[in-house]
Parts: sequence; structure tokens; C-alpha cells
Amino acid sequence: GSPLAGASWKDDGKEMPVPKGPDIGSQLTENTVSITVVGASGDLAKKKIFPALFALYYEDYLPQHFTVFGYARSKLTDDELRDTISKTLTCRVDKRENCSDKMEQFLQRCFYHSGQYGSEVDFCELDNKLKEKEEGKTANRLFYLSIPPNIFVDVVRGASRSASSLKGWTRFIVEKPFGRDSESSSELTRCLKMYLTEEQIFRIDHYLGKELVENLSVLRFANLVFEPLWSRNYIRNVQLIFSEDFGTEGRGGYFDHYGIIRDIMQNHLLQILALFAMETPVSLDAEDIRNEKVKVLRSMRVLKLDDVVVGQYKGHTKGGKSFPAYTDDPTVPKGSLTPTFAAAALFIDNARWDGVPFLMKAGKALHRRGAEIRVQFRHVPGNLYKRKFGTDLDKATNELVIRVQPNEAIYLKINNKVPGLSMRLDSSNLNLLYSERYPREIPDAYERLLLDAIEGERRLFIRSDELDAAWAIFSPLLRELEEKKVVPELYPYGSRGPVGAHYLAAKYNVRWG
Ligand code: NDP
Ligand code: BG6
Repeated sequence: GSPLAGASWKDDGKEMPVPKGPDIGSQLTENTVSITVVGASGDLAKKKIFPALFALYYEDYLPQHFTVFGYARSKLTDDELRDTISKTLTCRVDKRENCSDKMEQFLQRCFYHSGQYGSEVDFCELDNKLKEKEEGKTANRLFYLSIPPNIFVDVVRGASRSASSLKGWTRFIVEKPFGRDSESSSELTRCLKMYLTEEQIFRIDHYLGKELVENLSVLRFANLVFEPLWSRNYIRNVQLIFSEDFGTEGRGGYFDHYGIIRDIMQNHLLQILALFAMETPVSLDAEDIRNEKVKVLRSMRVLKLDDVVVGQYKGHTKGGKSFPAYTDDPTVPKGSLTPTFAAAALFIDNARWDGVPFLMKAGKALHRRGAEIRVQFRHVPGNLYKRKFGTDLDKATNELVIRVQPNEAIYLKINNKVPGLSMRLDSSNLNLLYSERYPREIPDAYERLLLDAIEGERRLFIRSDELDAAWAIFSPLLRELEEKKVVPELYPYGSRGPVGAHYLAAKYNVRWG
């Protein structure tokens, strides 16, 4: 069943007692939810959104009356949309099962409307089609803006027009990037709020829907053993690491305008940092959690150029195979200085974290794919074992690792005696490997987030003041990098990234895990 079983469904202000979990469909006979994926012809829609909607349908998490519409300029029929998306749907829940019946039922609930993003007439036609499917029931509408950001506002203008005539709610999931800096982000928020209230805007950061990121608060606040250690008294540094073993393949045009700091650090890694470092919230309500995140973000020091290293991947040949440089991508301007790698040292100036470096590292075209949080604890005071047996515990301090992906795990490095008559210490892991402990497949982040948006649960979405606080940390640095035309350190495709990252860590007496 749903982890939220028994919670109530917030209807933009009104509380509606609605049971969660696989029964949700049968309880909502008078309501209908219409989900419109705007930009349905695009990469994200095909790769993530439709498969996530199908997975929710498969597990009976969608209400009984629901319709999915794709909207984009491409001219497609309903059947062509179904044909396209059917290629990416999988029987995720149980691979042994043949879910073709379920898939067919789902596809029959999917429709397509072709229209321009700035055309009110086209949105009016969509509205008519939605009304037809809604059959006079209380109509709740969710629009997923899976489109480039320059057309967010046009779409919101067109799609929100009919909202006031509906009895149900209308919500918009807005994909990143939310601007390029503080000013453009505020401007985007201002424009969206001309048509929407803050309660209608669901700014998505899909890292918040990842199982181990969601589990961070459980780890901290539902276990006695960690929270007392969660401060400068015991933690020497925290590392937030993102790496991909492929380049910007196919997304170079988008990427060149943003770079790795905006693409990964300012959102995904900073969100993890906020959840990691925030104080205990008053409750698990969305506003209480987001209040704590805002506080910790506002306590952070503005990032300085001295505390940042930027890199860009260059071409590389390995085993007879050649890998392209970032600037080989035809959609990337020649001589681009956009970083595809960055490392940064961040600080939180509050009582809990004063002086503790939070090191972030994010890069594309590195030697492996992964995302993890590494918490390095201080060394054991007194050095009892070093004095007696020469064992160097400085090299083997405790480390807690939360491996967000792949192969999700939480493990704690401890020092242990090697069994035997001699006194030798060994660093070993207390290991919670998800695939062994929880054999069931972990839902994709987009499933959790789509379900939350349908249920009006805002805990995992970004509030506008959070966004402002996040941009305030990075915007001056981003401006300086661009104004000074800082040249990124080149690193070979498939390598561990620029050596500058190691010097940055060493400056704070830290080694990357
Ligand atoms: P796409 O570039 O594939 O764009 C989606 C659709 O928008 C296209 O199919 C196209 O549809 C329309 N479109 C594209 N460019 C323009 C344009 N210049 N003007 C008008 N319409 C345009 O984007 P993605 O699907 O990759 O991403 C969608 C959103 O999600 C973006 O905001 C992106 O930053 C974000 N995102 C994407 C991720 C990914 O992995 N792809 C990951 C995280 C976030 P048509 O021509 O049919 O109208
Ligand atoms: C997106 C970035 O937000 O996250 C991409 O725009 C990146 O550049 C992606 O590849 C990584 O997401 P995941 O879930 O595959 O780690």
C-alpha cells in the first residue's frame, strides 16, 4: 500500500479525506483527473512521464476517472501518440508478468491534441476535448510543462484560462530550469503568478523523488543514532557527488546555455544538501519542511570563485574507440567555455554547521555514473590504537555513505578488529544494500512526484522562496565566471575529472571519497 495511507488530500485549501493507495480509484467516482503532458513529442515525456503514468495506473494509484492528453505542435493522431509511447512503457512492477492488457487499457485513456504553445484558440480546443472526457464530473486538471522554459508562460496563459470555470483544481508541474540566475528566476515566477497562485505551481526537482533522497529525513529523524552526531561536533565534511559516464549527447544546445552548475548543483545537489542539513521540522507537513529548507539555504555563504573549480571534457581515445569533446557536439558553439564539470566548497554559517565544508562535485563524461552523499566523521580522539599498535585511524575515520544511484545503498564504514591473535584493524562496512533487503523494484522518481502532484502533496516540490535562496548562493559566482570568461580545465572523456578538484578538497584538508 501507499506509505501515505490515511493521509488527507489537500484540494488547494480544502481538505478532502481521500484514502490513498491502490483503492484510490474506486473512491473518486465523482472526480476526474485530466493530465495534459505539454511537449508530449519530446524526450522527457517519452522517456519518463508517460512510463511513470503507466506505472501509477498499473498499480491502481490513478483515480478511476482519468484521462491523459499529449499536447505539442507536432501533428500526431491519438493512435500515433499511443504507438510512440507504447514503445517506452514497461511492465516495471513485475517483469515476469505480461502486462499487455493493462498497457492497452492505459493507452486507450491517452489522447493527443496538436496546437501551438502561444495560441489561445488551440488551448480552447483542448479545453473542449478535456470537457468531453470529463463528462460533467468535478474536473481536476494537471498540466505537465515538459517544454523548453522560454514557452512556460505562454502555455500557462493559454492553459489556465478555463481554470476559473472549473469546480476542481488546476495545477501545473513546471520542469527545470527555473531561470538562469536570481533575476531571471524571479521574473519567471512573477510571470507565472500573473496567471497562477503559488499553490498551483509544482516546481519539480526529480532528485527529490528519488527513494534515497526521500529516505534522508527518515534516516535522520526516525533513528536515534544519527541525529546526535549530525553537526560540526562529529562531522568533518560532507560530500555531494554526481557523475555521469556520458556527455551531453543530444542535449548540447540546452546544456550550453546552462552548464553543470545550473544543471545539477544549484538544484539537485543543493536540494539534497538542504534536506541533509536542515533542522528538525515542526511536522512532516510540506510547509514545515520547506520552511526549514529555506532557513538552512539562507544561512549559506554566497559561493566564491576561489572555492570553485570548473572543467570541460575533451576528446579521448580508449581501446581503439574515440569519445568526442564537448565542443565536438554540433549544437555547441566552437570555443564554448561552458563547464561540464564543477567542484565547489560550500559553507553553512549556523551553529550546527559552522566551519564544516560541504563539498559538491558534478560532472558529465566521467569514468562512472553515480550519485552519492558521503559523510566523513572526525577522527577518534585520543588515538588509543595508534599509540599501542601504530594503527593509523586518521586514514580510516568513520564514513556514512548514502548511495542514491545506481545500486541504492546506505553503508557505514567502521573500524573493526581483524579476527585472529594479532591486533590488526580493518575498515569494514555495515551495509544496507537495497537490492538485497528490498527485492521489489524501486519506483522511478517521476512516479512519486506525479502522484504527489495529483494528490496535492507539495513536500517534494520547490517553493518560490526556496528557489530565491538557492539562486542567491550561486548567482554572483555564475556572473563572475561569465564576465571573467574563466577557462575550464580540460579533462579527458571518461576520466575522473580535473585535478583541480583534488586541490580544492585538499585546501580544506579533505579527500574525495
Ligand atoms: P525537448 O527539447 O525534447 O522539447 C520538448 C518538446 O517541446 C519538443 O518535442 C517540441 O515539441 C517542443 N519544443 C522544443 N523546442 C521548442 C522551441 N524552441 N519552441 C517551441 N517548442 C519547442 O525537451 P525535453 O523533453 O528534453 O525536456 C522538456 C523539459 O524538461 C525542459 O524544460 C528540460 O529542461 C526539462 N528536463 C529534461 C530532462 C531530460 O532528460 N530530457 C531532464 C530534466 C529536465 P513540438 O515541436 O512537437 O511542439
Ligand atoms: C537532469 C539534467 O536534471 O538530470 C541532466 O538536466 C541529467 O543533465 C539528469 O542527465 C540526471 O538525472 P538522473 O535521474 O538520470 O540522475
